[in-house]
Amino acid sequence: MKIIVAITGATGAPLAIKVIKQLKELNVTVHLIVSKWGKTTIQHECDMSYQTLCDMVDVVHSVNDQSASIASGSFKTDGMIIVPCSMKTLAAIRCGFADNLISRAADVILKERRKLIIVPRETPLSTIHLDNLFYLSKLGVTIIPPNPAFYHHPQTIDDILTDIAVRILAQFDLNHPSAKSWQGLHDHQ
Ligand SMILES: Cc1cc2nc3c(=O)[nH]c(=O)nc-3n(C[C@H](O)[C@H](O)[C@H](O)COP(=O)(O)O)c2cc1C
Repeated sequence: MKIIVAITGATGAPLAIKVIKQLKELNVTVHLIVSKWGKTTIQHECDMSYQTLCDMVDVVHSVNDQSASIASGSFKTDGMIIVPCSMKTLAAIRCGFADNLISRAADVILKERRKLIIVPRETPLSTIHLDNLFYLSKLGVTIIPPNPAFYHHPQTIDDILTDIAVRILAQFDLNHPSAKSWQGLHDHQ
């Protein structure tokens, strides 16, 4: 499989790193794009440098390179994950305003009707944000807010990141070994 991962300048860069780690553990080819403000949040929020993250993936694209392979629909991929997705990038995608490689690659995914996963991060959400999310959802985009579940009793931040990342990968039918599924309170074998 070949998946594009984009990191934008919303808080939550550690989640992006967790998603990339899990994709690589499953031998998925990862194309990475990080926005200018995504690089800032990586530096501010993560133990890992941008360069180390680049070393983990297969192809790194500059956010300014509109000539990249993934800027064209003729280059086949299995889809794209934008994690975390800022409200600015969300708005650009909703409008088809492809002014950088992240919004262009997402535009290509939409026009080719491939899988687009958006992990939006903002709180509270304005009516504009909600309207943009609703519109993209109607186009078939999967919206996964990075909300933790507590029924698996996470003990650490890493547990929470793992659980959210697993759910993102599951959208591609990728089953990471750390996946836990809810078994029901009253199910009996
Ligand atoms: C530390 C930090 C945290 C931010 N968190 C958010 C956020 O959670 N959501 C958001 O929409 N924007 C957030 N922003 C603002 C975006 O970085 C800003 O809107 C930027 O223009 C987004 O551009 P990009 O989508 O190209 O990365 C944050 C900025 C900084 C510096």
